[in-house]
Amino acid sequence: MRIDSFDLENWLNPACDSEKNKYYLGGSCVLPMTVEELFELTGEDMDAFLKDLAKMNLGYPRFEGTPQTRQAIADMYRGIQAEDVILCHGGTGANSTVCYGLLDPEDNIVSIMPNYQQFFSIPRSIGTEVRDVWLKPEAGYVLDMEELRSRVDQNTKAIMFTNPNNPTGALLRLDEMQEIIEIAKAADAWVICDEMYRGLDEEYMPSFVDLYEKAIVTASSSKIYSMAGTRVGWIICRDAQTRKTLFNWRSYDSICGGVFDEWIFGLALKHREKIFARSRGIVEANKKVIDRWIEKNPYLHQYADSYSTTYLVHYDLDVPAQKFADDLLDRKGVLVCHGDCFYMPHTFRITLSHAHELETGLALIDEYMQELIEEGVPILSK
Ligand SMILES: Cc1ncc(COP(=O)(O)O)c(C=O)c1O
Repeated sequence: MRIDSFDLENWLNPACDSEKNKYYLGGSCVLPMTVEELFELTGEDMDAFLKDLAKMNLGYPRFEGTPQTRQAIADMYRGIQAEDVILCHGGTGANSTVCYGLLDPEDNIVSIMPNYQQFFSIPRSIGTEVRDVWLKPEAGYVLDMEELRSRVDQNTKAIMFTNPNNPTGALLRLDEMQEIIEIAKAADAWVICDEMYRGLDEEYMPSFVDLYEKAIVTASSSKIYSMAGTRVGWIICRDAQTRKTLFNWRSYDSICGGVFDEWIFGLALKHREKIFARSRGIVEANKKVIDRWIEKNPYLHQYADSYSTTYLVHYDLDVPAQKFADDLLDRKGVLVCHGDCFYMPHTFRITLSHAHELETGLALIDEYMQELIEEGVPILSK
């Protein structure tokens, strides 16, 4: 089986580790915590935890995962039981389990683009036909329902997308979610939604799995929980037979999760409101700074409000997206995630959540763009 290069992960991760990277503005996880910070934030007893840790059995944990962690995850949805939760190795583990578990070469899927690459490159590698529906900047990244409807047929196994969207952060309204479900239902198709960034809002953010029995959603500890190193991902699926199929796939991939990872993430989830408040505070503060910056720079544009941890920024200079980001890193030490990772020309994804010396990094981007203009790089008309 052949599979495409995973553009975002293969470009961003090495760039992130590079010594050139002085100002990391390309990530999507809210500023990660140390174990100590987690205990300070939650008020849990660190000494008691360390004593428990010393006695921890390092054998295989339970096949289905730590019961308290599954229950705490189920509690973040409406009408979901612990048994509906499949724990996986990160969100990537959850997404690949769903793709391999569910899709066949004779199916088609509709991929709402931009999308996380697992949701179109894995299906393609299986031989599944992938039909794209693009969210467009000029429409404020709002989904065109008629276009979606026209791409779905009786052979459509699933509609697959991210919500909130990665990289734009655009969020589907409840009536839009219901319309997607109605379109899927008419073809008896699954709705498969990567909800890695769900939950930042103070208001309860509905999940597709609350609304449709043939929805499968994935999420993980990485983004709004600031605990990507714990590699706890999950799938929610209400259908028992499908869950059995997905557990079978997960057995081929990883048998079960990590005993320490599930345990400490379970402990964090007991205090999830405190973690969300921290994440919200960080994102809101950074968003204000980035909004002001975009407003002041006439060559930068942003077309959707973000309900996640990133913006997709459009720039008016005639430089390909990867070159723009590579040169920015070389010249100024600022790392943003280039838009070619999402097939979005003349864009980059910028973090709202993981900024080290954010204002200095933004000033360096301005300086870099000014240099490009002075060097004669053409300005694109909007
Ligand atoms: C939309 C989306 N899905 C999945 C992942 C992978 O998440 P994890 O770190 O939990 O494997 C990412 C990470 O960048 C992401 O942005």
